[in-house]
Order: sequence, then C-alpha cells, then structure tokens
Amino acid sequence: MVGKRTKKISLALFLGVATCISLHLGYLWRNRFFLSALGEEVDRQLQRIELRRLTTTAKTSRGSLTTASISPHVKHRTFLITTRPCMQNYDLLVITSSAPSNLKRRNTIRKTWAFERAFQPRWTTVFLVAQTRDEVVSDSLLKEDEAHKDLVRASYYEHYWNQTRKVQMGFEWAVTYCNFSFLLKVDDDVFVHIPRVLSFLSSPNTPEKKLYAGNHYANNTPFRGGKWKVTYEEYNLTKYPDFCPGFGYILSQDVVSAFVDTFSSLPFFRLDDVYVGMLADKNGITVTNNKGFEVWHPRNLVCVPTNYTLVRHDVGEECQMKMFKTVMFPS
Ligand SMILES: *[C@@H]1O[C@H](CO)[C@@H](O)[C@H](O)[C@H]1NC(C)=O
Ligand SMILES: *[C@@H]1O[C@H](CO)[C@@H](O)[C@H](O)[C@H]1NC(C)=O
Ligand SMILES: *[C@@H]1O[C@H](CO)[C@@H](O)[C@H](O)[C@H]1NC(C)=O
Ligand SMILES: *[C@@H]1O[C@H](CO)[C@@H](O)[C@H](O)[C@H]1NC(C)=O
Repeated sequence: MVGKRTKKISLALFLGVATCISLHLGYLWRNRFFLSALGEEVDRQLQRIELRRLTTTAKTSRGSLTTASISPHVKHRTFLITTRPCMQNYDLLVITSSAPSNLKRRNTIRKTWAFERAFQPRWTTVFLVAQTRDEVVSDSLLKEDEAHKDLVRASYYEHYWNQTRKVQMGFEWAVTYCNFSFLLKVDDDVFVHIPRVLSFLSSPNTPEKKLYAGNHYANNTPFRGGKWKVTYEEYNLTKYPDFCPGFGYILSQDVVSAFVDTFSSLPFFRLDDVYVGMLADKNGITVTNNKGFEVWHPRNLVCVPTNYTLVRHDVGEECQMKMFKTVMFPS
C-alpha cells in the first residue's frame, strides 16, 4: 500500500521534472538565436545604464504615480483611458503610435525589435491606439490588449489630424503610470535598433535631463495652401519652432513630465511633431540633432541599417524582419 503510493508519487515527480526540462529545452532552443548577439549587447548596455540610474534615481520626481495608482477614478487631462501601470521601472519606454487596424504591423514589431528577451527587461514597448467605429476591429483590439497587455488606449476617434491627441495621451500615460528614465516616441512603420538606442542613452555624452533628441528640423515654415494648409487662425507666425519629425524622437523623463504640465497652457495644434516642438520651446528645451534618426535612405539601402541607425523611418513589414536579422546576426 505504502510502496504503491510512493511509486505513484515518484512517477508523478519524475513526469513533472521531465516536463519542466523538456519545456525549458524547447524554450531555449527557440530563443537561442534571439538571445545571442542582441541579448549580450543589450545586457552590457543595461548594466551601464543601471549603474548610472542607481546614482540618479533619488533626484527623479515621480510624485504623480503613487496617487494615480491608488485612486480608482483618475481624472485624466487628455483622452487617455488606460490606467494599467508598468510592471517595473524601465530605463527606456518606447511608445508607438498605431492605428486600430494596424494589427499586422504591431505583431511584426512584437516579433522583431520590440521582442523582450530578458526576464526583467530594462525597456519595454507599448502601442498608442484610439477608437474605431469598425466594430470588428474594435472587438479585436480588446482581445489583442488582453493577450499582450501592451495597448494604451484613448477615447477619441482615430484620425490623421488627431495625432496630437495621441501624443498627449501617450505622454500622460507614461508620466502617470510608468517609471522610466527615457521615452522614445515612434510610429509603427519604423525600425528601432534597441541596443544602439540603449548605448546612446548610456553614453556619458548624452544628458540625462532636458533631452529632446531626434532629426533636427529648423526654420520650417507653415504651408498656407493645399491639402496640408495651416490657417493663420491655427498658427500666425511665419516660422515653426525647432522640432523633430514624429517618426522618432527621445525625451528624458523630466521633459515628458514638464510637457504634460504644459498641455493646458498651450493652444492645440494639429501637427503633432510641431506641437511637441512648441511644448519644448515653451519649456526652454532645445533639440539635440542625432543622425541615427534616419528619415531618408538611398533605394539600394532601404532595408540595410547604417553604422548610425537608431530609428529608421518608413520600414515595411518585410523590411522589419530583414533589418532585425541584420542587427542580430552581423556578418
Ligand atoms: C515607481 O517608483 C516608485 C519609487 O521608486 C515606487 O514607489 C513605485 O512603486 C514604482 N511604480 C511602478 C509602477 O513601478
Ligand atoms: C478628433 O477627436 C476629437 C475628440 O474626440 C473629435 O471631436 C474630432 O472629431 C476628431 N477629429 C477628427 C478629424 O476626426
Ligand atoms: C497669434 O496667436 C497667438 C496664439 O494663438 C495669439 O495669442 C496672438 O494674439 C496672435 N497674434 C496675432 C497678431 O493675431
Ligand atoms: C561601418 O563600420 C564598419 C566597422 O566599424 C566599417 O568597416 C565601415 O567602413 C563603416 N561604414 C561606413 C559607411 O562608415
């Protein structure tokens, strides 16, 4: 009787251990390639960032977070709905503008540059998605969010001219619900070279505060006619402030926080990247140009990262895969 039970228990234990081992081996096998080059470089950079962070965390103000996580009925300043907080502190938070119907693009990004290999990654990626009148897409978004828990939702209806509302709600979510050192805002048609971005952020030449880095656009003038017409009522000066095009730019936490505080004292402006330039201007933040934010590239080098690539604009799904592979298996 006792012997039989012991046998049963031993068998159960053996089966349990065997299952664990085979699952683990399967996992390792699948992730062997992802883990290698990318993983090592990312880990190296992260250790350096972590060291710097430890010496500076005390100075960062994160007052709003605690209040917001405790209060069940938070009043948001923007169209933000999501109140899910970040799981942990991050050195880099990537917020990605995405239209409701762009599920395929989001999935490609999840499989490529946004793939988190570490158990406790020091960076993470979320997608900013507003509302759609298409019920099928709307339902699918709920399921997608349940599965990935990486959507940050807003209550307004998605429209090209509502991108500023998207950026506003993304910034508000970031400062209210997440602890991070740097924020990278991108669109869902870009490739992000995560190890290089982390390397850039941990460089002693990169300031930890007052950082607004990207492709520096200066002396741009408003279009006063055509499809992209901006009326004098919307903007009455001859020149825009300096700004970075919206496909990709990096802000330090203090800057994002200051921007959110400035929403109410700045008139709404439809062009989201110019609007961010206005927020910066108002807060005395200047643009740091970085050639790693690549807007344009020669036809023959479309899916090839350069020696500088941090964020590459206008990258299709196939190109995402190609660039990700090139970065992971440098020949
Ligand atoms: C953010 O950091 C603060 C202070 O270190 C901590 O109290 C809080 O729990 C953190 N929140 C999250 C979501 O990690
Ligand atoms: C943008 O969102 C606002 C707020 O929900 C809405 O009133 C407006 O109609 C939207 N704009 C467009 C062009 O759809
Ligand atoms: C220009 O626009 C700003 C902000 O909307 C406004 O405060 C100012 O009065 C306008 N100036 C003129 C000359 O219309
Ligand atoms: C990129 O870097 C590699 C290795 O450091 C170097 O051999 C190559 O010449 C560089 N390419 C360009 C275009 O600068």
